[in-house]
Amino acid sequence: MSGLWDAFVGNEGRGADKWTHYFPAYERHFSRYVGRPVVMVEIGVGEGGSLQLWKGQFGPSARMVGLDILDKSGFEEDQIAIRVGDQADYGVLQGLLDEFGPPDIILDDGWWADREH
Ligand SMILES: C[S@@+](CC[C@H](N)C(=O)[O-])C[C@H]1O[C@@H](n2cnc3c(N)ncnc32)[C@H](O)[C@@H]1O
Repeated sequence: MSGLWDAFVGNEGRGADKWTHYFPAYERHFSRYVGRPVVMVEIGVGEGGSLQLWKGQFGPSARMVGLDILDKSGFEEDQIAIRVGDQADYGVLQGLLDEFGPPDIILDDGWWADREH
């Protein structure tokens, strides 16, 4: 996963919104999944670029699932599924488990930039 930073700063596709100081933690914890059939749920799809970034890092066996309270289904593509729902809704989370099985990684990035929370 050493290419994650380069992929992020060189990204000219859809936007991805990341704290730079998280990158060492991403590499430390996620590298073991590269090339494996990992299932990753990212809560908070944003502009869709993050799911593409993870897909590129993990490879063709990986499955990305994006959950967002807004309809971001336009960002679906091969290996990337998007579902609409509130991360605080247990029914929504159970639905993801039922559909995709237990995820290997859950990245919680579901928040509003313009609201108190
Ligand atoms: C900062 S953006 C996500 C950025 C993306 N993960 C990335 O790295 O580029 C936050 C997203 O969280 C979503 N969101 C806010 N509250 C949510 C909730 N309760 N459940 C699910 N998604 C939520 C917003 O609609 C928004 O798309």
